[in-house]
Amino acid sequence: MALFPCRLNFIVCWSVRDRAPFVWLAEKTLKKWDLTPTIKRLSEILLMTTPLENETLETGFERRLRQLGTDLKDSLSVLYPDNTDLQIWYDKLVNVARRAFEERPDTLRALDESRQRSNTTWFQSEKMLGYMCYPDRFATDFRGLRAKIPYLQDLGVTYLHLLSVLKARDGDNDGGFAIEDYLSTNAKLGTIDDLETLTADMRQAGIALCLDFALNHTAQEHDWARRAAAGDEDYQNHYYFFPDRSGPDEQEPLLEQVFPATAPGNFTYVEACDKWVWTTFYPYQWDLNYHNPAVLVAMLENLLKLANKGVEIFRLDAAIYIWKELGTPCRNLPQTHALLQVFRAVVSIAAPAVALKAEAVAGARHITKYFGTDGSHKKECQLAYHNAAMAALWDSLATGDVRPAAEMLRDLPQKPGDTSWVYYARCHDDIGWGTLRDRLGANWGASEEHLNFLWRFYAGEVEGSFARGQRFQQMPGEAFAGSNGTLASLAGLEAAFEKTGDAKAIDMAVKRILLLHAVPMALDGIPLIYMGDEIALLNDYDYDTKPENQDGRWLHRGKMPSGFEASNTPQSAVADRVLAELRKLIAARKLMPILNAKNPVRYLPTGNKHVLGFCRGNDEEHFLCVANFSEKPQDIGQEFVEKVLGKHVADQNPIGHSTSPIWQLEPYQCRWLVKQR
Ligand code: GLC
Repeated sequence: MALFPCRLNFIVCWSVRDRAPFVWLAEKTLKKWDLTPTIKRLSEILLMTTPLENETLETGFERRLRQLGTDLKDSLSVLYPDNTDLQIWYDKLVNVARRAFEERPDTLRALDESRQRSNTTWFQSEKMLGYMCYPDRFATDFRGLRAKIPYLQDLGVTYLHLLSVLKARDGDNDGGFAIEDYLSTNAKLGTIDDLETLTADMRQAGIALCLDFALNHTAQEHDWARRAAAGDEDYQNHYYFFPDRSGPDEQEPLLEQVFPATAPGNFTYVEACDKWVWTTFYPYQWDLNYHNPAVLVAMLENLLKLANKGVEIFRLDAAIYIWKELGTPCRNLPQTHALLQVFRAVVSIAAPAVALKAEAVAGARHITKYFGTDGSHKKECQLAYHNAAMAALWDSLATGDVRPAAEMLRDLPQKPGDTSWVYYARCHDDIGWGTLRDRLGANWGASEEHLNFLWRFYAGEVEGSFARGQRFQQMPGEAFAGSNGTLASLAGLEAAFEKTGDAKAIDMAVKRILLLHAVPMALDGIPLIYMGDEIALLNDYDYDTKPENQDGRWLHRGKMPSGFEASNTPQSAVADRVLAELRKLIAARKLMPILNAKNPVRYLPTGNKHVLGFCRGNDEEHFLCVANFSEKPQDIGQEFVEKVLGKHVADQNPIGHSTSPIWQLEPYQCRWLVKQR
């Protein structure tokens, strides 16, 4: 921010975040003119240097503790009903929060206050755009990332999710999700101090940084795990250890397998101590035992230390597994939610600017609960991935029939008003189809046969499939698998290139890619672009030449080509076209306040099985998205559009404009229709 003092009682400022000038007036004057909302927004920036009148920053902590302390105690008593030392653990957590608050740099405390006082929720803004990448594959290291800030800004990115940043074990480490030390970084990227510099530079550029916080497990090389393996019982109690196979044998049939092909079973033998340890993912990832409150306290301490380095969003990976109860499937348990409530309360007390994001890859019915469970006012994560919407989009693209997807999305409960979904077409993981199943037997629940069709389709194994992906983690003897591949390869670009010179096939693939960018941008959350998808990067078939990259998901974790950020350089015409169209889409979205995540989504049957329809608005519908998932033109009828938006309607989607009437859609066209005044 820059301040330019003027003669009158106002100051002209430059907002780095919005990249626009604005005027600040003395608070009294503004109140008289009833410009309170404006001053609140302006004070967000002024607060970076000025404490609020009548309230020192310290009282902010006390106020939050007063507001959230009782809830925190309640959630602890759900987790530890028989623990007679509950007050002691509560005090320990409060001390962790207080210490973190005391150590919190002034700029971050100011951010806390300003976000709290703002009358809008920062992560709900239509201006939000997420981008996720592996720093080494995107820009070599932290320094390289800083050099890429102009590229990210140009794209419109306001939230950057960096994968594989914290110090993971050497060799195979599940793409960085086997963490050895939560308070150091991968040395090849830079130090923790370099990370702090990066977060500050990013913030200055209007980009909030997001890191993964693997809270379900540590690497077997973590200090706690080493001590546990050496026989220290206190540390064995940080994990789930079993003296012999009897416990694991009883539990195993109740559990699902996440990596059945590469890491079968949920328990691993630890020779050093002659015991078995719970390992939901790879054998070198040991599940943490949150029944032991010392683990909870220590993990929160780690998280808050990272928050004090300027991390603004934490992706809580594998959230559905974090609480185990013997004799249950250990997924989505009530205590899982109580545990997340504790995380949320402590973070909100110490560092309220920070947001938690749930990675809850669960059945569609479960995901909304990660914002906060039914019947409880206690909050959990502010953000959550909508993996059901993601899978539904790919399902619709494969069949050209949107009805099952639309029915499912229509059936799911609304998210709470002060939260945001994170919508995405692709990420670093496979497309897991399980979320489309429904064990309660809803109409929309996909059959096993259909799920098997989907992974076959995206592996290019179905006659007429445009996709070039691969199956992931197929169970020996069973059909079901996930799908790997980049957005472009799965959407048909690779297959189109195989048919050299087939301009029509290439055009169709580009349209599919843009469709899967455009729909998430019209929904109630942050659209997230996965590294390379903005330039239609194809699969990386050399992924398994490195011993640590045998997991099939590396197929879509290729390196960004050098010079990708400059136009007219090594990119092909297709990459340039996708990037240019995407930029237009992003710019248009940022100008549409109706797309703020607080405005709920309502799915509507369009009367055409190929066209997904949903509208947005609070009291009244103001926006209608219609998306054609087929390769043929489609018509939804003038009447349908008029019924939702009235007679005067305009299409705000800047790409794929045709001269046809608004109720007609070209192949794979997505229209963003708004009421015209
Ligand atoms: C999350 C990550 C995934 C990883 C898993 C286990 O789901 O997204 O990549 O394999 O956690 O850590």
